[in-house]
Amino acid sequence: MANKEEFQDRMLSLGLARVSEAAAMASAKLVGRGDEKAADQAAVNAMRDQLNLLDIQGTVVIGEGERDEAPMLFIGEEVGSGHGPEVDIALDPLEGTTLTAKDMPNALTVIAMAPRRTLLHAPDVYMDKLAIGPGYPKDVVSLDMAPAERVRALARARGCNDDDITVCILERPRHEDLIAEVRSTGAAIRLITDGDVAGVIHCAEAEITGIDMYMGSGGAPEGVLAASALKCMGGQMWGRLLFRNNDERGRARKAGIEDFDRIYARDDMVTADVIFAATGVTDGSIVKGIKREPGVLETETILMRSKTGSVRRMTYRNPTG
Ligand code: FBP
Repeated sequence: MANKEEFQDRMLSLGLARVSEAAAMASAKLVGRGDEKAADQAAVNAMRDQLNLLDIQGTVVIGEGERDEAPMLFIGEEVGSGHGPEVDIALDPLEGTTLTAKDMPNALTVIAMAPRRTLLHAPDVYMDKLAIGPGYPKDVVSLDMAPAERVRALARARGCNDDDITVCILERPRHEDLIAEVRSTGAAIRLITDGDVAGVIHCAEAEITGIDMYMGSGGAPEGVLAASALKCMGGQMWGRLLFRNNDERGRARKAGIEDFDRIYARDDMVTADVIFAATGVTDGSIVKGIKREPGVLETETILMRSKTGSVRRMTYRNPTG
């Protein structure tokens, strides 16, 4: 029999799916209503309530913010029933608040769980990110390469031309030079307006999404969530924290980070087996969005375990009465 205090990833995974489903269902009514805050709050409340039903001694290590800025699911908050395995939890109750408010693709509710002290406590700063899908030699691309060099290296490894590569990048003024350099290689760019967890996950299913590589800066917390997903699906990812001021460096120090220039590979961000669940809020290429029919809400969830590499897609029909 399994030791009750061990990380029972198989048993806990279905519970984790319920947590992300609940957050998505709670935000259903707010899709396309132009109110980011209300949608986020609904998802936060529901995620926390469901999480507290799980038999875990959970600590939120990636959450809604520091204790003084987030009343719920703040970093360091203890969640779960207080019985069972000690676990780290990384979550984003609504990844893509603007996508949800505007009813644009790829808004997700996201949560990952791993044994205690195995997820990087990433502060809420930016992270320079690079990701590719499975099947490539180790370190075929790196954050130290120039963007054009990464495209060329990946094309060589795939046995194709540079202009057969598609790179996903967040559309931001800070990425203008990056975009210009990638374009100079002839590669295609899929620009996204938000949601880089989904952006990175797209690399793991390149045959479906058409995306070979993810590049650019986005939230560091989202980086740890994306690394958790890639650890389950296969694929490589690297991240380097970016600091704009001393306040951000202070946040990193508080999170226990001493080397500010370190490049974190996927398994440095997630050092043990992890389980990951994400439910679609709006339609996307990873999972479908919430469907609202009279009397029924339908969600689709992707649920994965790194130990087995299992990937489930689950449809849930919930009678709303
Ligand atoms: P929210 O859901 O919190 O709005 O985050 C969306 C997002 O696009 C993330 O996916 C991404 O990591 C981050 O914002 C990028 O930050 P910024 O909008 O400051 O460029």
